Amino acid sequence: MERDGVALPDVRRASAYELNALAALLARAFDDDPVSRYLIPDQQRRPRGLRRFFAIELRHTYLPRGEAYTTPDHAGASLWTPPGTVKPGWRDLLHLLPMVPIVAERLGITLAFLGQIDAHRPKGPHWYLGVVGTEPALQGRGIGSAVLRPVLDKLDDEKVPAYLESSKERNVPFYRRHGWEVIEELRAPKGGPTLWLMWREPR
Ligand SMILES: CC(C)(COP(=O)(O)OP(=O)(O)OC[C@H]1O[C@@H](n2cnc3c(N)ncnc32)[C@H](O)[C@@H]1OP(=O)(O)O)[C@@H](O)C(=O)NCCC(=O)NCCS
Repeated sequence: MERDGVALPDVRRASAYELNALAALLARAFDDDPVSRYLIPDQQRRPRGLRRFFAIELRHTYLPRGEAYTTPDHAGASLWTPPGTVKPGWRDLLHLLPMVPIVAERLGITLAFLGQIDAHRPKGPHWYLGVVGTEPALQGRGIGSAVLRPVLDKLDDEKVPAYLESSKERNVPFYRRHGWEVIEELRAPKGGPTLWLMWREPR
């Protein structure tokens, strides 16, 4: 496929057999993320912790109840949930139990932070972009934009809004280019990072 004469990577829905490859890709993409560093400050434990986290999220949320998109070589991925899957239930918390030893000394902060994020989630129906990441060596080549495209096109056709929390200020112009606007800034507890809460009206 091409856009403005530039070849775009092939993007398709991910399947369950790709779970480990996607968890590994996202762990690499998020290794230097301010929220990852805040919740898993130990850099030796972070890669394994993030792989475990993304594997749980893919297995229990994004593959069965949401939509996940990637490229054939797993250079990038986007993970979404549709309207109606907004509130995490007790089952989601149970699935996250294997994360407890990883965030052990930050458990209180992690739970407070997750509660804060959840409380700020807009109430109206929207698609939620939970995660987007590109292989670090391949960032800046259009892969992140390409893996967002299938859902953004669908949302524009169906006139449905979308929401996300950006954990990096650098990503704000990227999301703006794709139609999101900052609606609020949220500060994590105890001097933690800022999140830019962003809303997208369909185009
Ligand atoms: C944010 C991210 C998904 C964008 O994917 P990408 O493949 O680099 O994106 P594209 O090539 O389509 O677009 C490039 C734009 O992304 C933004 N960007 C953010 N981080 C970037 C990086 N490390 N390298 C290049 N561009 C980056 C810039 O706005 C850039 O536009 P510019 O070239 O005009 O500055 C990707 O950089 C990434 O995985 N970052 C680390 C994980 C992360 O921050 N995920 C989102 C959490 S909110």
